[in-house]
Amino acid sequence: MEKSNTSTFAVIGGNGLIGKEITNILLSKSHTVICIDLEKSAITHPNLHSIVFDITQFQNFEDFLHTNFSEFKLSGVVNCSYPRTKDWGASLSNISYGSFSENLNLHLNSYTWISKVFGDYFSNRKQKASLVNYSSIYGFLGPNPNLYNDLNMGVPFPYAPIKAGIINATKYLASIYGQKNIRFNCVSPGGVLDKQNPKFVARYSNITPLGRLATPYEAAAPAIFLLSEESSYITGHNLIVDGGYSIR
Ligand SMILES: NC(=O)c1ccc[n+]([C@@H]2O[C@H](COP(=O)([O-])OP(=O)(O)OC[C@H]3O[C@@H](n4cnc5c(N)ncnc54)[C@H](O)[C@@H]3O)[C@@H](O)[C@H]2O)c1
Repeated sequence: MEKSNTSTFAVIGGNGLIGKEITNILLSKSHTVICIDLEKSAITHPNLHSIVFDITQFQNFEDFLHTNFSEFKLSGVVNCSYPRTKDWGASLSNISYGSFSENLNLHLNSYTWISKVFGDYFSNRKQKASLVNYSSIYGFLGPNPNLYNDLNMGVPFPYAPIKAGIINATKYLASIYGQKNIRFNCVSPGGVLDKQNPKFVARYSNITPLGRLATPYEAAAPAIFLLSEESSYITGHNLIVDGGYSIR
């Protein structure tokens, strides 16, 4: 983000719980946002361009960029999409290998390949840029089964390698593209409040130093910092946004 000027940012998954907040914060700072999502953005704003695209077609992402982005000069990208199969959430004992493998392909492969394509895109244009990928505390922690007992919810098994893979692929790209002033970072939120079972909310809050889940705004705002000049010497970082959950 330029210090005084406004910039243009792509938000992949910009119509989701966290993506809408990121979009609104950027728009409130007079930036232009290109929302890339399976659905048209629910936000209407003169500085918002909504492009409907399925990022699991990531093999074609280079063509997609060349077709859709020639009129924009991007300064950064946030990927907060959440691609998943229809049976996402299957328990460890019920998940099939096909579902496990498909979710890695849809989520891990799309995030990491799209990051690489954006790295090349900015590098070829000799443009500095900041890319932010959403991981999760479950990219570096195991789930606590006591939080989920009897609640018919949990952390799906593929989420662990997906989110861990995103953190390390982001570091890889940060390392390679650093010399070109193209930064890559992750945001790793803990639980974000979204109409969960009140028992879960109480259990989770009870073992979290800040005593509550994050609001969607709190999970979104750190991405704005990572896009901005205020973070110009930060790359390859995994910014944990978990109210202290992971410190104990
Ligand atoms: N919500 C949480 O509690 C939480 C916690 C930690 C990490 N995260 C991570 O943050 C990110 C955002 O989470 P969220 O809660 O906002 O998710 P969400 O499901 O509310 O939003 C995801 C968005 O991605 C879009 N999307 C899904 N598949 C797509 C595809 N194939 N192509 C294009 N767009 C697609 C959806 O349409 C939706 O708008 C995810 O990566 C998630 O793993 C979320």
